[in-house]
Amino acid sequence: MNEDAFTRATRARYNRIAVVYDLMEAFIERTAFAAWRQRLWASVPAGRVLEVGVGTGKNLPYYPAGAQVTAIDLSERMLERARRRATDLGVRVDLRLMDAQRLAFPAGAFDAAVATFVFCSVPDPVQGLRELGWEPDYLSVRRRADLQAPQRPEELRLDAHLVALGAARLGRTRLIDNLEF
Ligand SMILES: C[S@@+](CC[C@H](N)C(=O)[O-])C[C@H]1O[C@@H](n2cnc3c(N)ncnc32)[C@H](O)[C@@H]1O
Repeated sequence: MNEDAFTRATRARYNRIAVVYDLMEAFIERTAFAAWRQRLWASVPAGRVLEVGVGTGKNLPYYPAGAQVTAIDLSERMLERARRRATDLGVRVDLRLMDAQRLAFPAGAFDAAVATFVFCSVPDPVQGLRELGWEPDYLSVRRRADLQAPQRPEELRLDAHLVALGAARLGRTRLIDNLEF
């Protein structure tokens, strides 16, 4: 894979923290994110769903019954954790190592795409969103590389707007963005 330095650095960072990621997030997960994930996924229609940046698989328990989920991540180590979680929970999901900035799926492959807490770490979020078939022309999205000191509020706002992107790659994008937490 011919990657830029920022993408390589992002993968290296998540490979490094994969082992402690769930621990790092445990408190906020329990007190806020778990309920938010549940609400988010309740709004995702069953069908062919792409989860972008699956991480350690924290969304797996909330996948809609009957959905055919394909989940990608840039980091092998995060993906390993997601694989283990899928086995433990008995959740069927097609897990793949892939860069959101260069999706290897044909147009029309999915009915919906979902990402939680992902695009704040994608080096070129605009490109990632375009890959999903959404032209982010009204969002003030800056390249991660430009963010000298990433501002948490901006990251959260970005992700809140990206929690679920419907009809990805179908040219009928629909943004579900009413799930602020
Ligand atoms: C903050 S974690 C969030 C993980 C998970 N979505 C969650 O809600 O817990 C961000 C994840 O996005 C992944 N990621 C970052 N850039 C990516 C890219 N370009 N393509 C695919 N995954 C990416 C990271 O490897 C990491 O697993």
